[in-house]
Amino acid sequence: MSLTISKLSYGNLVVGVDTQVQLRNGKKEQGINFDNAATTPPLVSVIEEIRSFAPYYSSIHRGAGYKAKISSAKYEEARKTVMNFVGADTKKDVVIFVKNATEAINKVAYRFSQDTDSYINSEAKQGKEKYVILSTSMEHHSNDLPWRGKYEVDYIEVDECGRLVFDDLVEKLEKYKGRVKLVTVAGASNVTGYVNPVHRIAEWAHKYGAKILVDGSQLIPHMPFDMKPAASSKHIDFLVFSAHKMYAPFGIGVLIGPWDFFEKGSPDYAGGGTVKAVTHDLVVWNDPPSKDEAGTPNLMGVVALAAAIKTLSSIGMRNIDKHEKALTRQLIQGLRNVDCIEMYCTDEEGQERVGIVPFNMKAVPHEKLAEILAGEAGIAVRSGCFCAHPYVQRLMKVPPDKVHHVMENPKEPKPGMVRVSFGLYNEHKEVEQLLEVLQEIAKDRRRYLKMYS
Ligand code: ALA
Repeated sequence: MSLTISKLSYGNLVVGVDTQVQLRNGKKEQGINFDNAATTPPLVSVIEEIRSFAPYYSSIHRGAGYKAKISSAKYEEARKTVMNFVGADTKKDVVIFVKNATEAINKVAYRFSQDTDSYINSEAKQGKEKYVILSTSMEHHSNDLPWRGKYEVDYIEVDECGRLVFDDLVEKLEKYKGRVKLVTVAGASNVTGYVNPVHRIAEWAHKYGAKILVDGSQLIPHMPFDMKPAASSKHIDFLVFSAHKMYAPFGIGVLIGPWDFFEKGSPDYAGGGTVKAVTHDLVVWNDPPSKDEAGTPNLMGVVALAAAIKTLSSIGMRNIDKHEKALTRQLIQGLRNVDCIEMYCTDEEGQERVGIVPFNMKAVPHEKLAEILAGEAGIAVRSGCFCAHPYVQRLMKVPPDKVHHVMENPKEPKPGMVRVSFGLYNEHKEVEQLLEVLQEIAKDRRRYLKMYS
């Protein structure tokens, strides 16, 4: 297969691409950031927008002053920007601004658990027949732990290569016969980069009376997405994502869901802004989204997010996807020619993916390899289990008793991998550089391990 090496460069759109980082030998070199799945640097346009808006910054929905009015309008305008960006149903859905995707999922988990219909019958109230949340075996902890304890949680299987087994979704929906309240699934995996067929999953979930939540943290910054109209069987009921993974790292996240859902129940956080009226013995909750945005909202975070969306849209999400896919192909093909590399994902034709590639080098602990890459070449990657322990254990075929053994013996090597994750500003020459350094390390593993022991 021939590689399409594009000449595209978005580096000048992102802050800090040319920052010099210190190597082990004390010299400084321009760093390479391949850790975009963890967090992304800000766009230049985001910083500019924050600077130009700062003189008008004021309180939202609480002040009558000129600046307060501008601030409130800016905040509300951003909800529309977000909705348009992901094709939310403007008549049925509501955008709630939160801290990040993790908070968004916790919010939905809390709210579902308040639902008086959460139990199927009176016997269930003793905790026997709770509704089921179907998560998957490829989630990061944020789309797994918030559901535990509140519901019966089951996990859709993954295959040998870590891809979701669609038939298992159908089997589990059938097995629980109407008890599945929600299917909650990553839009794209933060470990393997696989993109899940969420609209197809939505159709099946809806067929069985369940809703679907898509954790868009690793998807929304990398390719176009459409929630589809609420009337469509393919509609995504809940979508969550974090601005810090889409070039606007100022503490804001997004939760989109049906207005009616959030209109019911009480919010997880109560406080200023969440109420219409309060006496010492009465609380009348506000309508969504205010009801779920307790305290002074993070306006600067929202300003940053809206600016990032504007820039990403003007580049075009399709162009970003194309560029990052070309980088991914280059990396996967290159890794195949590096000695001693173990890969944990497939690039089979037809497997939709984002630019995330996990691997290991034989006989080099993952955390050491990450340290050597940083120390020798200024290349930043993440290593470990990426807050997705069960998925990484599965991909590495680590049995549960081995995990227990490692927990009891902290000196034992911990399972894990090295992960390269691309952002729109990464370039082909950076991938070439990584491949060269890896080859160099592979040839002389003992020496490098000694140097970094
Ligand atoms: N889930 C984030 C990552 O993959 C934190 O690095």
